[in-house]
Amino acid sequence: MKTILCIGAGYVGGPTMAMIARKCPEYRVVVVDIDAERIRAWQSDRLPIYEPGLQDLVKATLNKNLFFSMDIAKGIEEADIIFVSVNTPTKTFGQGAGRAADLQYWEKTARQIKAHAKTDKIVVEKSTLPVRTAEAMERILQSGNPTVHFEVLSNPEFLAEGTAVKDLENADRVLIGGHDTETGRKAVKALADVYEHWIPRERILMTSVWSSELSKLAANAVLAQRISSINSLSAICESTEADITEVARAIGMDARIGSRFLNASVGFGGSCFKKDILNLVYLCQHYGLNEVAAYWEQVVTMNQYQEDRFVQRMIAAMFNTVAGKRIAVFGFAFKADTGDTRESPAIRVCHSLIEERAAVVITDPKALNNARKDMADCGDKIVYEEDPYRAAEGAHALAIMTDWAEYKALDYRRLYASMSKPAFIFDGRNCLNHRDLFEIGFNVYPIGKKPLSHL
Ligand code: UDX
Ligand code: ADP
Repeated sequence: MKTILCIGAGYVGGPTMAMIARKCPEYRVVVVDIDAERIRAWQSDRLPIYEPGLQDLVKATLNKNLFFSMDIAKGIEEADIIFVSVNTPTKTFGQGAGRAADLQYWEKTARQIKAHAKTDKIVVEKSTLPVRTAEAMERILQSGNPTVHFEVLSNPEFLAEGTAVKDLENADRVLIGGHDTETGRKAVKALADVYEHWIPRERILMTSVWSSELSKLAANAVLAQRISSINSLSAICESTEADITEVARAIGMDARIGSRFLNASVGFGGSCFKKDILNLVYLCQHYGLNEVAAYWEQVVTMNQYQEDRFVQRMIAAMFNTVAGKRIAVFGFAFKADTGDTRESPAIRVCHSLIEERAAVVITDPKALNNARKDMADCGDKIVYEEDPYRAAEGAHALAIMTDWAEYKALDYRRLYASMSKPAFIFDGRNCLNHRDLFEIGFNVYPIGKKPLSHL
């Protein structure tokens, strides 16, 4: 029986390993983490992350061929293939602060692998990393006088949160980057064998290590660019009388453009888009490609502008002041079907509202705990409320930050009745029926559309 180890039991490592364990019953899959609480949660009925379908997937394999453990040394010793899926946040200090990736967890992991490996290992980069990280990892692993051989592969993850299980099961493609050497080709084949248990062979792409690393950054940069493009057009729509949904539909029907990822919103969030673009920007600057760096950086600038514009529009609509007004923020997760709030546009929007001295109430079906941590600096200026109806009581406005399906099904007559008048609704996800809300009595402000106002 072959053993697969994954270092890092987070949003990527956990679901990916659960899927491998499910699809490859003849492999033993071990996931380790330094965070004891996380490991305990994976072993329980209350998983550390919320992801549709994940609970069943883990249940089917847990303690059969999927194991969670804290024993990293033993895990390394026993494994044939080691996935590294530790966090790589943006650096907050020193050179490249605010742009470059903080590789300290990565490097620590490389050193641990080196210290505990007694047989040859295939080391797979799963976390998103700057281009040429594999090279640095190889240098660490090969330094000194190793008696074992390490072959480093890049195998970036393309799953999106909220649809992780579906994305893993039915991946558009699996990308494996390896060296064009005998050991490199052998390692690529060993990893491809794992995925071939459920992914058709033609969807498994093999490239050089560097192409694979760059493709991950490029895919996220291009996806984020689509959102920033449509969001920039939403600003034009709000100034003219064009409607962003109509524009998106009209351009999306061009087969060359395609219709997905053209929903205008309060802005994109998530742990990947901003971080990966900034990584790309840093890489460009490193190579003296300043125009290229500025081009991609603008995608992030546009996103921040969109968040700020949302708050400005709220203030302008509410007679130029929100001070003392209760505002119910519906949704704090960066998208529906996840409790993850990393880089959620709600963070910046709520901070701006607090600066304007609004009385902010946050509600979310899955992300309230994370919201409390993200907004800890605001202390008791923010109220957290599980029940959206209670959150809305006495509020002057509802601000929809996350496109949760349950928000479409709320009783808006009841909500309206309990609010201060005039009652406003700012739909940061264009996910509600604006005409119906207007008829109930709300003053409705969508993104990139003419407001429906009774005033
Ligand atoms: C993304 C990539 O999609 C995935 O392939 C990669 O592995 C990790 O980064 P994720 O961050 O989980 O996944 O979510 P995604 O569905 O891409 O959404 C990112 C953000 O963009 C969300 O805040 C979402 O609400 C927003 N978005 C998405 C829009 O505002 N408009 C759209 O049309 C699509
Ligand atoms: P991602 O979204 O990329 O999966 P997460 O932050 O959810 O990122 O997960 C990364 C995990 O890696 C965390 O649970 C963290 O505790 C773990 N981790 C970081 N450094 C190490 C390390 N040296 N050994 C084991 N686990 C680590």
